[in-house]
Amino acid sequence: MSGIVFYKTEKLQEIVHFYTNRIGSEVWLDQGKCVILKHGNMLFGFCEGEKADIDGILTFFYRTTTEVDAIYRRIEKDAEHSPRKNERFHIYHFFGLDPEGRKIEFQTFLHRLKEYWSGEQLLLYRRSIREFVAEDISEELLLKVFEVCRFAPTSRNSQSYYYVVTKDLKKKAILADIRQQASKPLAAAPYVVAVCVDSQKTKRAEQDCCIAGYHLLLAAAQFGLGTCWITDMNREEVKRILEIPVADHIACLTPLGYPAYDSLDSSEEELRQVSRAMMLPPRRKVKEIFRFV
Ligand SMILES: Cc1cc2nc3c(=O)[nH]c(=O)nc-3n(C[C@H](O)[C@H](O)[C@H](O)COP(=O)(O)O)c2cc1C
Repeated sequence: MSGIVFYKTEKLQEIVHFYTNRIGSEVWLDQGKCVILKHGNMLFGFCEGEKADIDGILTFFYRTTTEVDAIYRRIEKDAEHSPRKNERFHIYHFFGLDPEGRKIEFQTFLHRLKEYWSGEQLLLYRRSIREFVAEDISEELLLKVFEVCRFAPTSRNSQSYYYVVTKDLKKKAILADIRQQASKPLAAAPYVVAVCVDSQKTKRAEQDCCIAGYHLLLAAAQFGLGTCWITDMNREEVKRILEIPVADHIACLTPLGYPAYDSLDSSEEELRQVSRAMMLPPRRKVKEIFRFV
């Protein structure tokens, strides 16, 4: 399910230009007299009318204060004030006006939110997380995550995968030591999950298992939880500790918990301290990762 909020406008062209070129929204559907715009997962439309609707506030929210500052720099001349904290609502925001005098607001919430990412945002924003807050995950949320995992694709729909979850401190400590520095994040979260496949159920154990692993990483990120794919360990040892049948396949272990930091809102220096993996080269350009033949 989804929804659209419509406004009447006397200047359709100008308004569409403002929200696309200045604010960064995109045209989702052009119906001629009405144009529907998309901003993240928000859909809002403008239709030609004799009198513009200018009541209410159009609020765009971002993940981080850095992004609010960036949009402020872009539309400074249309802003009413520079970004500031609002203690009452625990937000960081500023107001502005669109070309018809409609109030617009740009903000980030300074507290944890329920899930809201669009599919594209999920794929872009998921990151490996290696430090976690001590807070436990409710059973309800864990079930939501694994409910989504039921839809991982498998060879011949074998549904061969399963997840072994532990919060046992002793087990987590042993697992965290299993590959020295590379496996340390396993002790940092309230849960460790092993992504496994019942080898009896499929001829494609490795492929089924890796997809089930990535499905878990995405499902967790969607619900605000952090994970980190950890592999190359002594699998026999892991199976013994987690009581996994010797014949079964393990794709990876991952910590699972609420992230202790936002991997997209930290300075490079902070990230360097948080994780060695962040020192890896930046992402390749899109033209480097696909080609036509
Ligand atoms: C097959 C595989 C093995 C990995 N092994 C480890 C590991 O042992 N320890 C670790 O901290 N991260 C590990 N990672 C996470 C990568 O370092 C991480 O995905 C990569 O740096 C890209 O960063 P991102 O996940 O934040 O986008 C592994 C990832 C993959 C796909």
